[in-house]
Amino acid sequence: MTFPSDFIFGAATSAYQIEGATGRGRSIWDRFCDQPGNIADGSNGDVACDHVHRWQSDVELMAGMNLNGYRFSFAWPRLFPQGNQQSNAQGFDFYDQLIDTLLQKGITPYATLYHWDLPESLGDQGGWLNRDTPYRFAEFAEQVVNRFGDRVQHWATLNEPRCAAFVGHLEGRHAPGLKSIASALQAAHHMLLGHGLAIQSINRKDLDLGIVLDIKPYYPSTASADAQKAAQQGDGVFNRWFFDAVLKGQYPEDIWLGFAEDVPEVLESDMSIINAPISSLGVNYYTRSLVEWDGEAPFPNVKPVKNPQGRYTTMDCEIFPEGLEAMLVRLNEDYSLPNLYVAETGAALADQLENGQVHDPLRIQYLNGHLKAVANARKQGVPVTGYFNWSLMDNFEWGHGFTQRFGLVYVDYANQKRYVKSSGRWFAEFIAEQQLTTA
Ligand code: FCB
Repeated sequence: MTFPSDFIFGAATSAYQIEGATGRGRSIWDRFCDQPGNIADGSNGDVACDHVHRWQSDVELMAGMNLNGYRFSFAWPRLFPQGNQQSNAQGFDFYDQLIDTLLQKGITPYATLYHWDLPESLGDQGGWLNRDTPYRFAEFAEQVVNRFGDRVQHWATLNEPRCAAFVGHLEGRHAPGLKSIASALQAAHHMLLGHGLAIQSINRKDLDLGIVLDIKPYYPSTASADAQKAAQQGDGVFNRWFFDAVLKGQYPEDIWLGFAEDVPEVLESDMSIINAPISSLGVNYYTRSLVEWDGEAPFPNVKPVKNPQGRYTTMDCEIFPEGLEAMLVRLNEDYSLPNLYVAETGAALADQLENGQVHDPLRIQYLNGHLKAVANARKQGVPVTGYFNWSLMDNFEWGHGFTQRFGLVYVDYANQKRYVKSSGRWFAEFIAEQQLTTA
């Protein structure tokens, strides 16, 4: 495996999942967590990893693991507790200090402007179903970049609009907990519009501006024509719908027709706004989908099946690094891509703290396999410039609460103590070796 000397090896987090609520306004996630039954262990992000008080030692942990990149998100309700009317100076100070400290340690910040914590006041006005929200997001984005763009070079507008739209508005497992395909598609459209409007309003050619999309390759579980059709349609909804919109300025026709009367309302200039030029694209990869045709299921008629030989994480994701390589190569064939970086990839495992140690050999294998996939894709000409593990540390895993551990660092929630897992030590050594061989 070889990587260039400026390759970014980092870890990722998001505001709601680690910060804790001190000093910020409420978001749609606070509301969602309040409703009984929504979160597996009944928890919420009120304390999370208490990062808002422990950020200094958390940055030390990153430095100790030789990370040269850190991907985090700004909490909109920390910067503007009511959704843009009034800014919160202490919120801005918090990120100022975090960013300055990262830079002092030689850790390049990768900032995400929206990782799902929409201010509750905007949620009350319809959230992403309201066509006004993308405009509010663009205003927010411009102000944040104006403040931090002197030190933060790499920006992503949204994290995984697919997941926020579909899991939040169709599956009901994420905020705001809705369950209709028409709302998922309208929310997704408004998020994408917000992305394009933000790129326009930020309007900075000197910065690296992009978006983070989740990717998942679909594989037919049998050679039947039906299974292949299911894979093609599943891929169209999960991947092409978003990549075509952002990189080609159109929704794929076959999928548009498949959604029939559920398609979103799209105004005339929307697609050209969504297609605003970007200089990078983050991709989040967790697993593949192995599928059969299901004529009873709504479009895209997909029925997921398990691979009997597969190895699965505690979140039931098949560990499949080949899918990352295949997907990166295929994206590079199908689209004219800006620089890519893997903004998230990682595994939830049943980590145990024993005598101050967490032994997680499977995560080491996972990291090794996925880093290799990236190196292989690079050899085939895919312009990948960085790799971020999800996550820096165990944290609040949305609907799963604190039941899923993804970190390179173990968090003991009873006392907020952090323990670098053996995977974190492995990654640190891997990075040091890379830097030695490329120096
Ligand atoms: C991604 C999210 C991230 C985290 C991982 C496990 O979909 O972007 O916040 O929850 O999944």
